[in-house]
Amino acid sequence: MDLFRYRQGRLYCEELPVADLARRFGTPLYIYSAGTLRRHYRKLASAFAPLKPLICYSVKVCSNTHILRLLREEGAGFDLVSGGELYRVLEAGGDPARCCFAGVAKTDAEIRFALAKGLRLFNIESEEELENLAHLAAEAGKRARAAVRVNPNVDPKTHRYMATGKKETKFGVDLERAERVFRQFAASAGARHVSLEGVHCHIGSQITTVEPYVQAVTKALDLVRALGGAGIEITTLDFGGGFGAEYEGGQALDAEAFACALVPLLEGTGLEIVMEPGRFIAGNAGILVTQVQYVKAGGDRRFLLCDSGMHHLIRPALYGSYHHIWPVDPGEDFTPAQRIRDEAFPGTEVVDVVGPICESSDFLAKDRHLPPVRRGGLLAVFSAGAYGMTMASEYNSFPRPAEVLVEEAEARLIRRRGTYEDLVAPEKDV
Ligand code: LLP
Repeated sequence: MDLFRYRQGRLYCEELPVADLARRFGTPLYIYSAGTLRRHYRKLASAFAPLKPLICYSVKVCSNTHILRLLREEGAGFDLVSGGELYRVLEAGGDPARCCFAGVAKTDAEIRFALAKGLRLFNIESEEELENLAHLAAEAGKRARAAVRVNPNVDPKTHRYMATGKKETKFGVDLERAERVFRQFAASAGARHVSLEGVHCHIGSQITTVEPYVQAVTKALDLVRALGGAGIEITTLDFGGGFGAEYEGGQALDAEAFACALVPLLEGTGLEIVMEPGRFIAGNAGILVTQVQYVKAGGDRRFLLCDSGMHHLIRPALYGSYHHIWPVDPGEDFTPAQRIRDEAFPGTEVVDVVGPICESSDFLAKDRHLPPVRRGGLLAVFSAGAYGMTMASEYNSFPRPAEVLVEEAEARLIRRRGTYEDLVAPEKDV
């Protein structure tokens, strides 16, 4: 699953003790394992190899430019949702011709930026956006390549905030309307400036079954065939991201399982396949290390008051997500065989792990069995590599955490800790 392992009672990231990293770089600290990032990317690449897909790593998941560079070296293209993400990809030396742009409400400025760089695919969310893309492409003297994002109305069986392929969500164009959109566009003047050559769908995130993909891809292929029958040739199918990571042990599927279901559907169609995985690659490749500042009793509860919380990892507060938490140096008696929810150890105590933010949504975990932890102790919050740092804020004016990338026995600071000056810099000289 990943290269964070307990050895003789101490947590290691690859070859380095996490406690040493915390001492060297301070806390709160995001630590990423390069080996895990590479391993997960390669698992996908090899499972889907028969389709020769363009694998566009979803930048929103973990967007540090050093991590983008690592994945680019592995062969990844990128899935973007904003001009800012395009900027990051360019900084990381990414090739725009291997990027797709799926912003839900792209601004003219973002579209112009993307046109100037020459992206592989604009994933279009509405009729108006398509018209606007044609207009801006004409103005820029470019011909854009685009796909219509369709909403296949399937239930991905995930948290409702992460379901994006159901009819009631804001995403994509309803499948029934999609055919008309293609036909009308083919007959319009805009077709000179936009090659509308693809069908895109992204049905959600943290998906742990194959059926929703089979349903969505089957519907997308039906549309491709119907369009073909009407003389509109579709060359590209982008089936999005969404493959789940491991949070509690045992719920995520391997890349092979998704590939076994999807490759037979898509092989031999002649379509160019794009996929947009994010969490599958980065989710298990990062931890957040936080230091317990105080331990206190309150009512009938015991609180570990930490230097990190919802401002650095908002997933527990926003989605009720489970992140496994365990001391960085628990000692041999408390070294877990595996990281699973409520692993029963004699001598653990039930605690809430909370942060310094002034609201009650600020927790990383509730009612957790943890070994006794004292003031100054370090905790590892696991599976924090996806949607951790990218969703972090400076709420309550806490500077952002530092980020470190470990490869074997080498640790590299890839983002310095935020400072008080960083907090006020954009407010100076205005
Ligand atoms: N493609 C598109 C168009 C997307 O909107 C997303 C994620 C992805 C690809 C990548 O999905 P992945 O492979 O990582 O599942 N903040 C939430 C997750 C939101 C997902 C947003 N879209 C969380 O913390 O769980």
